[in-house]
Amino acid sequence: MDIQENPHAGYLKYELKNFEKLPVKIWEDSREASKHVAKSIALAIRQRQQDGEMIVLGLATGSSPIKVYEELVRMHKEENLSFKNVISFNLDEYYPMPKEARQSYWRFMHEYLFDHVDIDPNNIHIPDGTVAMDQVADYCHNYEKQIDLAGGIDIQLLGIGRTGHIGFNEPGAWETSPTRMVRLDHLTRHDAQKDFQGEDDVPYRAITMGVGSIFKARTVYLLAWGQHKAHIIQQAIEGEISTAVPASFLQKHPNVKVVLDKSAAEELTRMRAPWKAGICNWTDDLICKAVVWLSGKSGKPILKLTDEDYNEQGLSDLIIEQANSYELNIRIFNRLQHTISGWPGGKPNADDSKRPERALPAKKRVILFSPHPDDDVISMGGTFQRLVDQGHEVHVAYQTSGNIAVHDYDALRYAEFMLEFGETEKSLGDQDVKNLKKIVSFLNNKKSADEDIPEVRSIKGLIRRGEARAGARFTGLDDAHIHFLDMPFYETGKTRKKPLGDADIHLIMELMEQVKPHQVYAAGDLADPHGTHRVCLDAIFEAYRRLSEKAWLKDCWVWLYRGAWHEWPVHEIEMAVPMSPQQLRKKRQAIYMHQSQKDHPPFPGDDSREFWQRAEERNRETARAYRELGFAEYEAMEAFVRWKPE
Ligand code: F6R
Repeated sequence: MDIQENPHAGYLKYELKNFEKLPVKIWEDSREASKHVAKSIALAIRQRQQDGEMIVLGLATGSSPIKVYEELVRMHKEENLSFKNVISFNLDEYYPMPKEARQSYWRFMHEYLFDHVDIDPNNIHIPDGTVAMDQVADYCHNYEKQIDLAGGIDIQLLGIGRTGHIGFNEPGAWETSPTRMVRLDHLTRHDAQKDFQGEDDVPYRAITMGVGSIFKARTVYLLAWGQHKAHIIQQAIEGEISTAVPASFLQKHPNVKVVLDKSAAEELTRMRAPWKAGICNWTDDLICKAVVWLSGKSGKPILKLTDEDYNEQGLSDLIIEQANSYELNIRIFNRLQHTISGWPGGKPNADDSKRPERALPAKKRVILFSPHPDDDVISMGGTFQRLVDQGHEVHVAYQTSGNIAVHDYDALRYAEFMLEFGETEKSLGDQDVKNLKKIVSFLNNKKSADEDIPEVRSIKGLIRRGEARAGARFTGLDDAHIHFLDMPFYETGKTRKKPLGDADIHLIMELMEQVKPHQVYAAGDLADPHGTHRVCLDAIFEAYRRLSEKAWLKDCWVWLYRGAWHEWPVHEIEMAVPMSPQQLRKKRQAIYMHQSQKDHPPFPGDDSREFWQRAEERNRETARAYRELGFAEYEAMEAFVRWKPE
C-alpha cells in the first residue's frame, strides 16, 4: 500500500505546504513499490501491443531496478506479458568493460531480464564498453541517433547514485549533455567496489546517456530504496536545481514520478518534520518524534522545553491539542525513560508494567540471530553479555558463512599452515596434500575477477566460523549453544546472492522449534535493500509466519538491532541497554576475535573506521543522545526496536 493511503502510517491530516518539487510516491517497502512500477510498464507495453506499435524502454542497472525486472519476468512467465514489441536502450556501461565480465551491465541486463523474456535481441541496445577509444565519440553520437530513430524513449527507469548521478552523469554534468564518455566520481567508484575485487579494480570511466538524452524520455521513473539514499533524494527533490546534484534537473521535466520506500524518504520534510508541511494526526509516536526533534533543534533537554519553544519551531498545534508543554514534556520524558533497561531479558521479581521486557519467565530462552559471523558482537555485544551474565539460556545462530569477506592472503595462510602441519606431523594422506596444493596454487594464481573454487570458499567459511566461535565463547557460551546455519542463499561465492528459498527458511524454523525461544534478536537493517541483512531478516519473518500456529510462539518477542552501519533514531527505540566503560571494553575484545575483519576488511562499506570503532562510536552516540534529552549519562548504549507481527 502506498503509505499516503495507509491511515496508520500517514502523518498528515491536511497538507499546507509542499516542499517537494517533484511528484513523489512513498511505499512501505521496495518490493511493493517495484511491483507497482512493473505493472505500469506492463500496461504500457500491452497498450502498444493492442495498437500494433513498438514501445521504447530506457533501462537502468544497479540494485534499484532489480525487483522491477523480477516482477516483469514473473509477468512474462505467469501472465503472458510479451516483450516482442519492446525496444530497449540501457543508460550506461563501464569503460573499458568486456560484455562477458562479471560486472558488465550487459551481463547484468541479460541475467536479470533479457535471458528470461521474449525480447528480440536485435532490439536490445547497451552501450559497448569495448569500443576503441578513438571511436567512442562516433559511437556515442550513433547511440543517441538510434534512440531518436526508434522514436525516442517512452519510459525511462532511473536509479540515483549517492553523488546525485542519474545514468553516470556525475556532479558537473550539464543539462543538455548527450551520450558520451565520462569519468566516474570517487564516491561512485567506492560504492561500486562491492561488485569488484576492491576499489582499485573499478573502472575510472563509463559511457552514459546524458542528462539531455534522459530528458527526452516521455515518462521517467526515478527509483530509490534504503536509508543510504535518503540524503541525496532530499536534495534532488526539495533542493535547488544544480549541476552539483544532476538528478535535480529532473525538476524541469514535465513527467517524472519518484518512487521511494520509507527509508529513502526519511529525510523529506513531510517525513522528518511533517508538522512543517501540514496539520498532523498526532499519534503518540509522532508526538515523541516531534518532542525529540524540538529538543535537538532548541538544544534543550525535554523537561526544559517551554510553550515558546513549541510555538517558535512551528509546533504550536501540539500545544493546542495537548494542553501545555509541561505535561507533554513529562509524558514523553517518561516514555523515553522506560526504554532504558539494564535487564534486556526482563528483571526478575520486579514490576514490569513500565519495563521493555517481561519479568517472567525469569530465565528466558533466547536466540540471537547474526546474519554474518560478527554481527552478534558488533551490534549487540554488550546486551549479549548481559543476557548470558543474567542467567538466560542464550543461543547464537550465525545465519550465513560470511565466506566472501575473507582476504585471499588469509585463506592462503591457513591452507599453507595445514599443508606444513601435515608434512611436519606426517598426518596427511596423498589426496589431502593434492587438494591443499591445488588450493595454494589457485590462490597464488588468482586474478581479481576470478570466482573462488569451492575448497577456497570452504576455508574462508571455516576461518569465519572459528572467529565467531571465539567471540561467542569469550562472551560465555559453550559450543552446544553456538549454531552455524550456513544458509544456502548466500553460497554463490559472489556479492550477488540467490533468492531466499525454502531450505533457508527451514533452517531457521528448525532451530526455533528446537529452542522455543522467549526472545529472538535479529538484525533489523533495512538500509541496504539488497543486502544480506535484509534477506536474513525476511527469512526470520517468514519462519515466524510459518510457525504462527505454535503455542510457544505467542510468548516469543522479537527484538531488532541494527547492524554496523547505522542506529535506530531515538524516538523509535523501545529498549536501550546501557554499558559501562568496562562492558564496552569487553565488547571490543569480542569484536577483536574477528581477525579476518580487522584493519582492512574486504567489504568495509563506505566507512574507513574498523568495526569495533564504528560500534563504539555508535553506542556512545546513542548514550549522548539520551543524555542531551535529559537522561542520566551513560558511557554507551545498545538500542532495540520490538517487531510485532501483524
Ligand atoms: C545504472 C546507473 C546508475 C545507478 C545508480 C544507483 O545503470 O546508471 O545511475 O542507477 O548508481 O545504483 P543502485 O541502484 O545500485 O543504488
